[in-house]
Amino acid sequence: MNATPHVLTNLTAATLRQDAGPYGLIEDAAIALEGDTIRWVGPRNALPDDLRAVPPQDLGGRMVTPGLIDCHTHLVHGGNRAAEFEMRLQGATYEQVARAGGGIVSTVSATRGASAAELLDSALRRADALIAEGVTTIEVKSGYGLDVETELRMLRVARDLAVQRPVRVRTSFLGAHAIPPEYKDRADAYIDEVCIPALRASHSEGLVDAVDGFCEGIAFSPEQISRVFDVAGDLGLPVKLHAEQLSNLGGAALAARYGALSADHIEYLDDAGVSAMARAGTVAVLLPGAFYTLRETQVPPVQALRDQGVPIALATDANPGSSPLTSLLLAMNMGCTLFRLTPEEALRGVTLNAARALGLKDTGTIAAGQRADLAVWDIAHPAELAYRMGFNPLHSRIFGGIA
Ligand code: NIG
Ligand code: FE
Repeated sequence: MNATPHVLTNLTAATLRQDAGPYGLIEDAAIALEGDTIRWVGPRNALPDDLRAVPPQDLGGRMVTPGLIDCHTHLVHGGNRAAEFEMRLQGATYEQVARAGGGIVSTVSATRGASAAELLDSALRRADALIAEGVTTIEVKSGYGLDVETELRMLRVARDLAVQRPVRVRTSFLGAHAIPPEYKDRADAYIDEVCIPALRASHSEGLVDAVDGFCEGIAFSPEQISRVFDVAGDLGLPVKLHAEQLSNLGGAALAARYGALSADHIEYLDDAGVSAMARAGTVAVLLPGAFYTLRETQVPPVQALRDQGVPIALATDANPGSSPLTSLLLAMNMGCTLFRLTPEEALRGVTLNAARALGLKDTGTIAAGQRADLAVWDIAHPAELAYRMGFNPLHSRIFGGIA
């Protein structure tokens, strides 16, 4: 397909390319798009002759970054948990709420009771908030159905978001998220009778890009997660895991043994877990919105991750309980302020490393051959993205080459 190239000039490009200095910054840059792909990027004075002949679009000196990627969300769900927020403010902990039948399980009832149209409607509101901040790819998990039919409904709705809006959606099957009330104290039976059959059914409908789980005292043991991951392996699906969020069960190391794309949360990750992730190339997805909401005090081992070269991503964890956050820019700010990431690490964490956490190689940087998913900002320096709170400097967004 030979589309006419579209040339953008008078811009600064934060390419995030790793071989290219801080932020992969190119001052006075030009970017040429062809169809849904980036054809060329570099200093404007180095534009190839055939692209020089194309009348350019002047971006008025603005900053261009890759489109942002929210690589961990629970965007599709029924209801909300404002009442639980009030309970926690009166002193109950997240675990106490969960054990008292609130928490994830209360969102399960609301999600089971919602039609696909209702789920889509509420998820679109949240997706729109992300898109308005320059997000071009969103990962969405199941895990509030916990029965075959509702898990399928959640994943179909997640896929539908990408039909309704100009955004790419990647779906993760999270049947091993919580034990539903009808399987109380029978987690093994839930895995065998519901979770694995739901995974197979979702996969055969083409609804699953990756398989996730929640490895925690209030959820599933490493052994139970392994059984789900074995099925993922049989189906040829990559895995990822909510690990070491509230305690250390060795979940990240388990995930790394399965070559996981990512281990997420990881506040309680130890050195052995960091090394296992480094060896497997597993991305650390940090979720400061959940850390903040739960008033966690144990920070993830950021320096150890850096020292061992584990790529760090950041995401909203948008969910109705532990992280009712639909701003990826605020997640970047929290990543810096709460976890002491640098603004460059934060931006890498919502672009290149977020792409890796989803197993995507065609997005996350500005480079020839990448998808033409870009965000254009009214800022002078990329550190401004993580610096402000509650301010959106997005000028415009380009998705698949289309503004
Ligand atoms: O990522 N950790 C488990 N799952 C979600 C919480 C979901 C909820 O509380 O509804 C999380 O934080
Ligand atoms: Fe989560």
